[in-house]
Amino acid sequence: MDKKVTIVGAGNVGATAAQRLAEKELSDVVVVDVVEGLPQGKALDLQQAAPIEKHDARLIGTNSYEASAGSDIVIVTAGVPRKPGMSRDDLLATNANIVKTVIEQTAPLSPEAILIIVSNPLDAMCHVALEASGFPKNRVVGMAGVLDSARFRTFIAMELNVSIENTHAFVMGGHGDTMVPLPRYSTVAGIPIIELMPRERIDALVERTRNGGAEIVGLLKTGSAYYAPASGAVEIAEAILKDKKKILPCAAYLEGEYGIHGLFIGVPVKLGRSGIEQIIQINLTEQEHAALQKSAQAVRELVESLKR
Ligand code: NAI
Ligand code: 2OP
Repeated sequence: MDKKVTIVGAGNVGATAAQRLAEKELSDVVVVDVVEGLPQGKALDLQQAAPIEKHDARLIGTNSYEASAGSDIVIVTAGVPRKPGMSRDDLLATNANIVKTVIEQTAPLSPEAILIIVSNPLDAMCHVALEASGFPKNRVVGMAGVLDSARFRTFIAMELNVSIENTHAFVMGGHGDTMVPLPRYSTVAGIPIIELMPRERIDALVERTRNGGAEIVGLLKTGSAYYAPASGAVEIAEAILKDKKKILPCAAYLEGEYGIHGLFIGVPVKLGRSGIEQIIQINLTEQEHAALQKSAQAVRELVESLKR
């Protein structure tokens, strides 16, 4: 392949993202992890699936960073996931140290790369990545809104018994309990869901979306979701690698948009070869705007606590 994507963290999200990237023939893939043998074993196993899956992507697993040099994209999934009873924010200090170390090692080897951050707490980890890399803000993208919107779409399709392909949904805000699903901008075949379901059903779907991560943690018991998160990271990578100009909800560094300054938070962005090429500002009602500000405040408190 003429593109290279490095995935740091060969755990559940990282390995699944590697599989999806390779099977879609989007790029060669380098998988890096601190655990000896883990990235090597997963990369070799995935490579041996290639003859059956019929792809020519090359996969390398390694405990060091040399092979990652010159990557077009670096996806950061290194860190610890949630266990039952833990919030994403409980991971703050541990994952901040991990993400900082990872970025300090990858950024100098791939100075033109676009960073897709997945590690939690997501919005705060984007700040760590921006600072540790010194990259411009358009080259640091956080993956969360794609996942949260996919969850909302799933629940809408289940509720109305319609094709998932007919659904569209937007979830803005931080990747936490204060996220802001937007029913007014969520549609089935272009029809706003507020015309298709009663208020109380929409409220129930919104609530299930907000708890989407915790619902999976409660079921799995030993970790958190990874199939849909990996799909989310790969959708962002694909939009960038193919310069698609695709509009997706991602964590982006705001400097005044939506009245928010100096903060990563989930908003609709246009993704292309340069990463975040535009932050799209949609009209919000007073209530939606207030919910976004509340979510921004929760993220800001986390980011501030990182500095203490
Ligand atoms: P996992 O535990 O399966 O994998 C994490 C991997 O990171 C492990 O293999 C571990 O050895 C590795 N790692 C730890 N420190 C490292 C370092 N310094 N350098 C390289 N690798 C290192 O966890 P999973 O399920 O893959 O989740 C990864 C992260 O992604 C977690 O923080 C989780 O909360 C987050 N996540 C975020 C989502 C989002 O929507 N933003 C969705 C799902 C997960
Ligand atoms: C999720 O939403 C844990 O952030 C992860 O599934």
